[in-house]
Amino acid sequence: MAGSKALPTFCFLLCAASCALAAASYDYMILSLIWPGTSCQPGWTGKPACCVDPLIDNPEPDFLVETMETYDSATGKLVAKCEPNCRFLINPLVDLLDDLYAYWPSLSCPAQNGKQVWKAAWCTFGNCTSLSEVNYFGRALQLRARADVLHALGSKAIIPSETKSYSLEDIEDALVPKIGFSAVVECTTEMGVLSREYLLSRVRICVSADGKSIIGCPFARKSNCGSKVKFYPFTDDMLGRPRHPAAGHIKLPSDKAMTQ
Ligand SMILES: *[C@@H]1O[C@H](CO)[C@@H](O)[C@H](O)[C@H]1NC(C)=O
Repeated sequence: MAGSKALPTFCFLLCAASCALAAASYDYMILSLIWPGTSCQPGWTGKPACCVDPLIDNPEPDFLVETMETYDSATGKLVAKCEPNCRFLINPLVDLLDDLYAYWPSLSCPAQNGKQVWKAAWCTFGNCTSLSEVNYFGRALQLRARADVLHALGSKAIIPSETKSYSLEDIEDALVPKIGFSAVVECTTEMGVLSREYLLSRVRICVSADGKSIIGCPFARKSNCGSKVKFYPFTDDMLGRPRHPAAGHIKLPSDKAMTQ
């Protein structure tokens, strides 16, 4: 009997929650970029944590788009799932497909092509915007390139390394010239030999509602990283297959060529 009473209450709460979400209006976005060297670290079993469809080229070894979320600056809350009957069409994205595979891939296992990831991003956030599909995805990709996180870090000698740690402050400072003060650096934690280790996992960047520019974040958020951060290399074996199948066949120069 208890169940028959609880169910309508539950449904009411569910509706109230989704109606409240739908009523909120988005006025800025957060572009979330992940570092695959951290998110694709194999677990204890050594099994790859990330997979890519064998018919698709590997993603670039770079910061990759995870999603672009919609927010309401009046409350700082996420605005999501605005249209229950959301439709995602792949056709408008044909010209963006190569870039989407390279910089907005599906990394989950078992391997999928990106469609499920893009559909989730569109129907959770993109459909809440005033942007067309092609503009939502295209602008996210453009901003990823403009933020150019990997090069910004590299220009301050912050490069992926299995052994080195970098100071969080140096990482944040390195992002300022291209992104300003609008990025939040996020880490995942791992128990190291003696202490907790912080691994650079994400950079989150605030973006204007039209998706055209990087803006200062309406809500300042602190990094969850410790003062020392590791920036692990992203290697092809993390995807369970080699990057370029042809690479194994490249001939070494002959002895003669080496002595010339
Ligand atoms: C969101 O989805 C609905 C239903 O498919 C559609 O009518 C509306 O135009 C979409 N919004 C955007 C911004 O594309």
